[in-house]
Amino acid sequence: MAEPPTARSREGARAELPTLQEHLGRIQSYLRGCGLLAFPGETPIRRELARFMEEHSDETARIWADTIGPAFEIDDDELEFLAKDMREAQERWLAHIRDPSDVETYAVLRNHARGGFIAEHPPSRFLASQLKIRQILADLLRREMRDSVFLPELLTLLDQALWERVLHITDFFVEARLSERRRLELQLIQSEKMAAIGQLAAGIAHEIRNPLGIIMNALYDLGELLRDPPAAVEEDLQIARTEMGRVQEIINNLLEFSRDGTMEMESVDLNRTIRQTLKLMNKHFQNSGVVPKTDLGPIGRCRVSENGMRQVLLNLVTNAVQAMPDGGELRLTTRPAGEDRVLLTIHDTGTGIPPERIGRIFDPFYTTKDPGEGTGLGLSVVHSVITNAGGTLDVASPDGEGTTFTIELAADTSPTSAS
Ligand SMILES: Nc1ncnc2c1ncn2[C@@H]1O[C@H](COP(=O)(O)OP(=O)(O)O)[C@@H](O)[C@H]1O
Ligand SMILES: [Mg+2]
Repeated sequence: MAEPPTARSREGARAELPTLQEHLGRIQSYLRGCGLLAFPGETPIRRELARFMEEHSDETARIWADTIGPAFEIDDDELEFLAKDMREAQERWLAHIRDPSDVETYAVLRNHARGGFIAEHPPSRFLASQLKIRQILADLLRREMRDSVFLPELLTLLDQALWERVLHITDFFVEARLSERRRLELQLIQSEKMAAIGQLAAGIAHEIRNPLGIIMNALYDLGELLRDPPAAVEEDLQIARTEMGRVQEIINNLLEFSRDGTMEMESVDLNRTIRQTLKLMNKHFQNSGVVPKTDLGPIGRCRVSENGMRQVLLNLVTNAVQAMPDGGELRLTTRPAGEDRVLLTIHDTGTGIPPERIGRIFDPFYTTKDPGEGTGLGLSVVHSVITNAGGTLDVASPDGEGTTFTIELAADTSPTSAS
């Protein structure tokens, strides 16, 4: 199983993490290289040690808990839970000692190091507890097997198994830190990308805004100049105006999305903004068979940009309506959350968002709609407005139950804000 080091494994820290198989093979070769692999394959001595560990697992767990508890200042409740965990871990370990090809113990340990319980503590603490188990087992072996000719071999195998464990665990802890760092790096790259797209978009939007204004004026003039134009001309003018309106909406979205942290924070009566926005969209609801419902609680005011928040509501409500082509229900709820937060939820009974898409919907320009229907900027704007205000944004779309966006904002707790 031992492989010569390849470019890939040398670069391991920066490239992909090794697979469990690669990792196991490497540790085996270290053990062999250090003269610690006296019992490589399945042997009677392995079966004997496994049997002994199995027979003494309750006793080992009890002694372990009695010494580890006070040493690590673990309280009784947690200790009971730990002892149970420890016994299960022992079972997996002795299965590996019995048959080295059974590596479940290392699969579990690796997962644990990446976010499980043991990841919350320093590696030395975990290793010390493993050393303790070795000491307990060695004492028990010396006491109960003192007349056996196999005692030296059993003790050697126990140490071999312990060293093997120490080497594995050390790597698992380092790997876990590396994969956490990689996750953060990816997150950073993503937000850098968002920022770059934002700047690009802002540049373009600014460039386009002036000519756009001129075209709008020209259209207006044309309408004025042509008194009683033929129906076909009037129709074309109308189309041009509507489409220009759409272009302007896109430009506004782009500008809003690319706006940096300077978005002005105000004290906003969110319930009022919601009512106004819904009123604006009433016609839209009627045309699409959507029934809007509100349940607005006593939330006071919150800290957010009012214009930004209008855009947020507009975008979320538009998405919800678009997701209910055959009509449905749209429900907006506000609630106080603790002393200083405000919760807003927007729920629709629409098509929902399949799990494979949900991770991408906040990406700029991600859209599943036809050109003209969507630009993929709506949720990017929502995201940037909410995070700029120090708020949080969540989406849930359980199968068949539509979609719910949940927004949490800071309440305005300044004394003058009482409304
Ligand atoms: N309420 C919703 N129900 C179902 N899908 C949604 C909902 N809101 C957003 N989506 C999905 O997220 C995508 C991105 O939304 P958005 O950023 O507003 O862009 P756009 O609406 O222009 O496509 C949409 O194309 C759609 O697939
Ligand atoms: Mg949208």
